[in-house]
Amino acid sequence: MPLVKTADLVTPGTGIAAFNVITLEHAEAIIAGAEAAGRPVICQISENAVRFHGGRPGPIAAATAAVAQGSSARVALHLDHVMDTGLLYQAADHGFGSAMYDGSHHPYEENVALTAAAAEWAHSRGLWLEAELGEVGGKDGAHAPGVRTDPDEAVAFVKATGVDALAVAVGSSHAMTDRTAALDHDLIVRLRDALAVPLVLHGSSGVPDAELRRAVANGMVKINIGTALNIAFTGAVREALGTSVDPRKYLAPARDAMAETVRHLLTVIA
Ligand code: G3H
Ligand code: ZN
Repeated sequence: MPLVKTADLVTPGTGIAAFNVITLEHAEAIIAGAEAAGRPVICQISENAVRFHGGRPGPIAAATAAVAQGSSARVALHLDHVMDTGLLYQAADHGFGSAMYDGSHHPYEENVALTAAAAEWAHSRGLWLEAELGEVGGKDGAHAPGVRTDPDEAVAFVKATGVDALAVAVGSSHAMTDRTAALDHDLIVRLRDALAVPLVLHGSSGVPDAELRRAVANGMVKINIGTALNIAFTGAVREALGTSVDPRKYLAPARDAMAETVRHLLTVIA
């Protein structure tokens, strides 16, 4: 079916998973997993993934949209962790229904100014905009362990920027390869009660299933997952590599392993 709007999938009170697309196989696996689970899903392409594809968002975005259009799943397309405004301004031309502008590494006032400008542009093009306050750790070495989003600051930030959703730092960290993150559930509840916009959890690969369920019950809405798919992909490739030179021999099990990971996580995040 045609792509749906991110705003239609991100609604307070329910969880919606957003998985990172790096290759065509990721897109196929995410959408197959969504079909198997009978759940909608967000496919997100990060600035890093765009860089991996030579700096052009078009080919991987078009491929993901085409896979979605050939499926029965409800799929939205999101541009993730954009720091380069030049890339942000291309989002509307490549089928993205939403973007995340990531100014979290800037000091507060600068983050406000840059995010407000990003939100104004996004809204002028009919896009939904997510931002980040509090800096979820694990990105590019800019890890600040223990950093948390302050609810009062979050209220002021959302008011000053006009964003549609807010990524908050509540104990998760990007790129964890073990599922040992413990979330600050009291803070999640305080943020949910203080803010009218949906909350976004980044770095969710490191969060155990029970913690993810509790986070959604406490008010987390968009749950971003990337590394878990890469663990499934790479593990399957290692196992299947053998001596064949045909990439299909290892990409097919890698795609199946990612699809099963997606299916499972979609039963957790509902
Ligand atoms: O924005 C993307 C996510 O935060 C992915 O984080 O790779 O740690 O699951 P993760
Ligand atoms: Zn993230």
